[in-house]
Amino acid sequence: MSAEVELRGVSKTFGSVEALAPTDLSVPAGEILTVLGPSGCGKTTLLRLIAGLVSATAGTITVDGVDPARARAEKRIGFVPQAPALLPWRTVRANASLLLDLNPGRSPATPSHSVDELLDFVGLADFADARPHELSGGMQQRVGLVRAFALDAPLLLMDEPFAALDEITRTEMRHLLTRLREPHGATVVFVTHSISEATYLSDRVAVLSPRPGRVASIEEVTLGRPRRPELEDSPEFFEVTTRLRRALGIGAHAG
Ligand SMILES: Nc1ncnc2c1ncn2[C@@H]1O[C@H](COP(=O)(O)OP(=O)(O)OP(=O)(O)O)[C@@H](O)[C@H]1O
Ligand SMILES: [Mg+2]
Repeated sequence: MSAEVELRGVSKTFGSVEALAPTDLSVPAGEILTVLGPSGCGKTTLLRLIAGLVSATAGTITVDGVDPARARAEKRIGFVPQAPALLPWRTVRANASLLLDLNPGRSPATPSHSVDELLDFVGLADFADARPHELSGGMQQRVGLVRAFALDAPLLLMDEPFAALDEITRTEMRHLLTRLREPHGATVVFVTHSISEATYLSDRVAVLSPRPGRVASIEEVTLGRPRRPELEDSPEFFEVTTRLRRALGIGAHAG
């Protein structure tokens, strides 16, 4: 179960700030597309547009042929925001199932994974009954991840979901994401600053230019699947990361 995303001539301005220049982008069903670019280039804006959380200044966006706001209302979109908005009075488990509890009629009858199973996957089983203030920033981010995954949506939009995590957990989370997604192969649009994360996860990488963001290039990640952790030490992996650095305009041996 995966969704197709189509952007035609989509732009966004906030007052006098042009956040996103007119952009065309097609994400075929089942693809993992990473959006890579410098801070402030419009990555979050792009994701919020696809999620139907803000409307475009010009152009059209469709998710499986329908308007993003409608797709989101129908729970076809799982969204992991840059900062997870957890409700302080709800437990971790209740926060994780928040989107399922809202409008339960539209939830899948048999989701791929239960909320408790997902909490266990991300190492939070022992914290299911804790409140958000008892968690570290990285743990809160993992609750946000579970919340989006629990929906079992055909489209997952993820805004730097692993940014607050240490390097080890971060690497584990990219392997986990790959595994969690396997049962139904959701389409994923994933925003990151990390070149190695983009390389490990994606089928293609959209490299954005500095503000106003525009798709400067689309890079194919020519690595097979399934991907395994050892891949990150291989010459093929290095070849892709080098290519992405060049596309971002970073010296091939920098960063
Ligand atoms: N709600 C808003 N109101 C006004 N300006 C905004 C709003 N959201 C974003 N912007 C502006 O749009 C531009 C792009 O912001 P955006 O958050 O999309 O960047 P980003 O690529 O996600 O950056 P970062 O990597 O730091 O998260 C910025 O100049 C920002 O100030
Ligand atoms: Mg952002």
